[in-house]
Amino acid sequence: MRFTDKSVLVTGATRGIGAACARAFLAEGARVAINGRTDTSVAVAMAEYEGNANAVAAPGDVSTLEGCNAAVAAALAAFGGLDILINNAGVFFRGTVEETDETAWDAVMNANVKSVQFCTRAALPALRAAKGNIVNIASESGINGYPETTAYCASKGAVLSLTRAMAMEFAPDIRVNALCPGVVETDMARAGFAAGGDEEEGMRLQRESYPLKRIGTVEQTAAATLFLASADADFINGVGLPMEGGATVGNWRSLS
Ligand SMILES: NC(=O)c1ccc[n+]([C@@H]2O[C@H](COP(=O)([O-])OP(=O)(O)OC[C@H]3O[C@@H](n4cnc5c(N)ncnc54)[C@H](O)[C@@H]3O)[C@@H](O)[C@H]2O)c1
Repeated sequence: MRFTDKSVLVTGATRGIGAACARAFLAEGARVAINGRTDTSVAVAMAEYEGNANAVAAPGDVSTLEGCNAAVAAALAAFGGLDILINNAGVFFRGTVEETDETAWDAVMNANVKSVQFCTRAALPALRAAKGNIVNIASESGINGYPETTAYCASKGAVLSLTRAMAMEFAPDIRVNALCPGVVETDMARAGFAAGGDEEEGMRLQRESYPLKRIGTVEQTAAATLFLASADADFINGVGLPMEGGATVGNWRSLS
């Protein structure tokens, strides 16, 4: 129970990695504010936690300033403070540079980068008071370059850069770290990597492309996120921790 009496806001917690983080924090004693884009999507997700007073709704579209402020305000209203902010909400966009128009670019940057800036800004006084910490969910795509996902790669590179700059700016009060997952089996990955519309084939190809011949699970991703947010990581600050089965450390093509 590493998070007893800790207050946590997880953005994009209605499914996937964010939902797994919310479940894991609740299981370790935290109070958790569950963010999603709309009142309805959050209400649907909250059904899972019925009867658990430690889970509260914090709706708000965090690709907007107004949504970031609303999500943080709901968490603060419920908890009276905040110890941990998990900037997880994000969107994937599959497209080449030519296929990425201004609308797509803005949507990716707003959901993936602007959200980190403005949720953090809104939470800053509370996090400072608590001497808390932030975990940003970046991606392996912020380290390796990939074709046909250029805007997404750029957005996750920006999250890593924001992580380092914020870690320096907020020290010594607040630790800021990022997690860089490789492909994790979620709705986002299944839709984003579908091969010719076939999600199963897309996931098979992704598994084959990794040195460990498998992809990540949401539970593994939550475990790594909770580690960075915990006292066990108390002297880790400003890093982007790869969680990708070795995909960023070298070229794993065999010579045989
Ligand atoms: N799944 C992967 O392979 C993978 C790998 C590396 C990093 N990531 C990152 O992990 C995070 C979560 O991804 P996931 O796979 O769980 O995706 P997902 O699409 O399954 O879930 C994302 C969640 O974020 C919410 N969300 C999106 N935009 C939002 C907004 N503007 N306001 C509020 N909520 C919003 C969605 O409603 C959903 O609940 C993202 O930042 C993603 O880029 C995912």
